[in-house]
Amino acid sequence: MLFSLSLISGVLAGLTAVRGQSVIVPGALWTDTSGNSLQGHGAGIIKVGSTYYWLGEDKSHNSALFKAVSCYTSTDLVSWSRQNDALTPIDNTMISSSNIVERPKVIFNSKNNEYVMWFHSDTSNYGAAEVGVATAQTPCGPYTYKASWKPLGADSRDEGLFQDDDGNAYLLYASDNNQNFKITQLDADYYNVTTTVSQLNGATLEAPGIVKRDGVYWLIASHTSGWDPNPNKAFQATSLSGNWSSQVDIAPESVRTYYSQNAYDLPLGSNAIYMGDRWRSDLLGSSSYIWYPLDFSSGTPTLVAADIWSVNLTAGTWSVASGTAYEAENGSRNGSSTILSDSSFSGGEAVGFLGNGGSVSITVQGKGTTQWVSLYYANADATWRNTTVSVNGGSPVWVEQPNTGGGSVVLSVPVQLTLNSGSNTITFGAGQSNYAADLDKIIVY
Ligand SMILES: *[C@@H]1O[C@H](CO)[C@@H](O)[C@H](O)[C@H]1NC(C)=O
Ligand SMILES: *[C@@H]1O[C@H](CO)[C@@H](O)[C@H](O)[C@H]1NC(C)=O
Ligand SMILES: *[C@@H]1O[C@H](CO)[C@@H](O)[C@H](O)[C@H]1NC(C)=O
Ligand SMILES: *[C@@H]1O[C@H](CO)[C@@H](O)[C@H](O)[C@H]1NC(C)=O
Ligand SMILES: *[C@@H]1O[C@H](CO)[C@@H](O)[C@H](O)[C@H]1NC(C)=O
Ligand SMILES: *[C@@H]1O[C@H](CO)[C@@H](O)[C@H](O)[C@H]1NC(C)=O
Repeated sequence: MLFSLSLISGVLAGLTAVRGQSVIVPGALWTDTSGNSLQGHGAGIIKVGSTYYWLGEDKSHNSALFKAVSCYTSTDLVSWSRQNDALTPIDNTMISSSNIVERPKVIFNSKNNEYVMWFHSDTSNYGAAEVGVATAQTPCGPYTYKASWKPLGADSRDEGLFQDDDGNAYLLYASDNNQNFKITQLDADYYNVTTTVSQLNGATLEAPGIVKRDGVYWLIASHTSGWDPNPNKAFQATSLSGNWSSQVDIAPESVRTYYSQNAYDLPLGSNAIYMGDRWRSDLLGSSSYIWYPLDFSSGTPTLVAADIWSVNLTAGTWSVASGTAYEAENGSRNGSSTILSDSSFSGGEAVGFLGNGGSVSITVQGKGTTQWVSLYYANADATWRNTTVSVNGGSPVWVEQPNTGGGSVVLSVPVQLTLNSGSNTITFGAGQSNYAADLDKIIVY
C-alpha cells in the first residue's frame, strides 16, 4: 500500500502527497496547492531555512514572451504553493511583455543581505542576447529590476548561476552566438560580472547547472537544438577554471535525456536531483517537468529514469516505486493492431497499429483506488502521438505520447487511472481515428 494514492485536493496531480509519503511523477500534469497548473518553467531553486523556493517562467499564455517569473514554496519538493510573482513586466524596458525573460536563478548575497536574480533577458527574436538582474529582500520578492546588458560586452543566452562554498558566485552562459560556453565570476554584490574563469570554445552548450560533489565541480548542460531535446552532458573539473573533462552522457543518447532539457540541478545527499523541462513548443504552458534522481555512485552522474519516486530530504536519499509490468504483446489485440519485433522492446515485442481501428486490451490487477500507470511506447516516425486509455470499458482519457525521436526508442508517460480491486481490463487505442504510438508494456504502480 506504500504508493496507493489518496489525493489531497482531488485534482489530477503529478506531484501528489500521499498518507505520509509524497511522490514525484515526471511528465505528469503538475499542479500547485490551489489545483492550478504549475508554471515554473526553466526553474531555479533556492533553499532558505527548510523552505524551497521554485522560481520559473509562467508560460500559461502559451507564448515565449514575458508574462511573469512565478514563485512557489515547498518544504518537501512535492507540494508547491504559489506565492506572489517575483518579477512582472515593465513597459518600455527589456522586461516588457513583448520581450523574453527566461531561466530565472536566485542566490543570496550575505554582504548586502539581499536576494539577487539573474535571468536571460532578450528581445522576441532572441537577437539581444543579454542577462538581466533584479534584487529583493525576500526570496519571492517582488524583485526590483536593475538592468539588462551583455556581460563583458558579449552575448549571453541560456544561463545559470553557481554559488561556491566560499561565497563567490559565477554566471554560466552560452555566449558568442551560442558557440562558446563561459563561466564568469560575479562581483561582491552579485550585480555584475568581473572575470571569465573558463571558456569552452565551440562547446555549443546551453541550459547549464553546476553541482559540487566531493570537491569536484560537475557541469550539466544540453547542447543547442532549440525547443527539441538532445542528449544532455556532464563535464567535471576540480576547479571552476578547469581543466574541464570531455563530455560524458547522463543517460543513453538515444532517449535524448528522456525528452528533457536541464533547468536546475539540486544537491541531494551525495547525489543530486536533475530538474528538467520537457518543452512543448506549440503549447509552451503545457510543457511538463522531468525531475529524476542524478546518481553519482558510479563516479559520473547518471539519471535514474524513475516513473514514480520520492525523496527523503532528512536522509538525502530517494526511493523509486516498484510496480507490476504487463507486456502489451501479452494483451488481447483487436482490429488492425499487430505485433512488432525489435530488440529494444521489453520481451522483444510491442503492439503496433493502435488507433484507426486497432486496439489492445491488457488485464491487470488493481487495488481498488486511483493508481499511476506508466505507458512505455515507441514511435518510429518521430512525431507526437496520443492514445485513448479506457478502464473496464469506461469513457477514455487521452494520453499524450511525446516524440521519441524515431526508430524504436522507448519512452514512458504516466496516467492516473481508477482501478477496481482485483482484475481490470485497460484498453489502448480504441475509438481514435489517428494512430497511437506502438505500445511496449505498461507498469501499474
Ligand atoms: C558591468 O561592468 C562593466 C565594466 O566591466 C560596465 O561597463 C557595465 O556598465 C556594468 N554593467 C552594469 C549593469 O552595471
Ligand atoms: C589544462 O590543459 C592545458 C592544455 O591541455 C595544459 O597546458 C594545462 O597544464 C592544464 N592545466 C591543468 C591545471 O591541468
Ligand atoms: C527519512 O530519513 C530519516 C533519517 O534517516 C529517517 O529517520 C526517516 O524515517 C525517513 N523517512 C521516511 C519517510 O522514510
Ligand atoms: C502474460 O499473460 C499471462 C496469462 O495471460 C500472465 O500469466 C502473465 O503474467 C503475463 N505476463 C506479462 C509480463 O504480461
Ligand atoms: C491526438 O492527436 C491528433 C494528431 O495525431 C490530434 O489531431 C488530436 O487533436 C489529438 N487529440 C487529443 C485529445 O489530444
Ligand atoms: C474490436 O473490433 C470490433 C470490430 O472492428 C469493434 O466493433 C469493437 O468495438 C472493437 N473492440 C474494441 C475493444 O476496440
